[in-house]
Amino acid sequence: MIDRAYYIRKEINRLRKEKNAIILAHYYQDAAIQDVADFVGDSLELARKAAQTDANIIVFAGVYFMAETAKILNPNKKVLLPDPLAGCSLADGCPPDAFEAFKSLYPNHKVVTYINTSAEIKAMSDYVCTSSNAEKIIRSIPEDQPLIFAPDKNLGAYLNKITGRNMVLWEGSCIVHEAFSLEKLIELVVDHPEAKIVAHPESEDAILRIAHCIGSTSQMRNYIKNSPADTFIVATEAGILHQLSKEVRDKKLIPAPSSEDNSCACSECAFMKMNTMDKVYRCLRDETPEVHIDSALAVRALKPIEKMLQLS
Ligand code: 13P
Ligand code: SF4
Repeated sequence: MIDRAYYIRKEINRLRKEKNAIILAHYYQDAAIQDVADFVGDSLELARKAAQTDANIIVFAGVYFMAETAKILNPNKKVLLPDPLAGCSLADGCPPDAFEAFKSLYPNHKVVTYINTSAEIKAMSDYVCTSSNAEKIIRSIPEDQPLIFAPDKNLGAYLNKITGRNMVLWEGSCIVHEAFSLEKLIELVVDHPEAKIVAHPESEDAILRIAHCIGSTSQMRNYIKNSPADTFIVATEAGILHQLSKEVRDKKLIPAPSSEDNSCACSECAFMKMNTMDKVYRCLRDETPEVHIDSALAVRALKPIEKMLQLS
């Protein structure tokens, strides 16, 4: 009897060659999806890869705003998202009408938005950034230019702190990164005083204050790979542990616990985990669900994304 997982992997490999398709996966995807992907990266690396590919079809194993960004960069390619309901609390928590009203309260401000937003919000933005280039992009803007930052209030507050800006912040947050418990983290530090703490800047200030490294998924990964330390407490989505466990076999990686977590001590993004190997296979086979975007909207949303890719 053929093992179903083996059959699916084999079919994905056959179909991707036959259709000249590329599979891009975020670090927060299931291990099997990361292993079958052509490229695994953080949101900036995935946007870059999407901008460079000559494949006819992009299967984006991530969440909706990531696949939508790939489509904006590739209006003539087919972009498929294994589960079209894979949202994001940051993108979903910043609806265009409410953001337009918010923006109108600050008429002389320019808008910097995190890439975790819809195409409509990107089209209303002057700059787009990711967690790995946000500081650089903000520092490239003249200091006397007032700014709005959306949608992540934690990342925005962190950026205000390190750049000395006073950006007006939209009140959004990531349900995964906001859930880390400081209390439980401190308990872990007491048990492992030698451990270095790595955290994503979507986490709350109390967590970031005690972190040794704050960065995007790839920046945290590089820190762990290159640090002489051998124990790390990892305050981000548990998917990052998959690549790391292959790369740093001799280091101890301890997932930071979330407030509600009393069992497995790991934090998972339920949106990211909506994609499965079965869905990756079926979307490649059937070429659906496809991401569609109005062409005039895509042109407007492309401008700040291109600016970001040039600046970073
Ligand atoms: P990265 O830019 O680190 O990939 O973060 C994306 C994201 O959604 C984090 O929750
Ligand atoms: Fe959005 Fe948070 Fe999930 Fe990242 S981890 S996709 S920010 S909900």
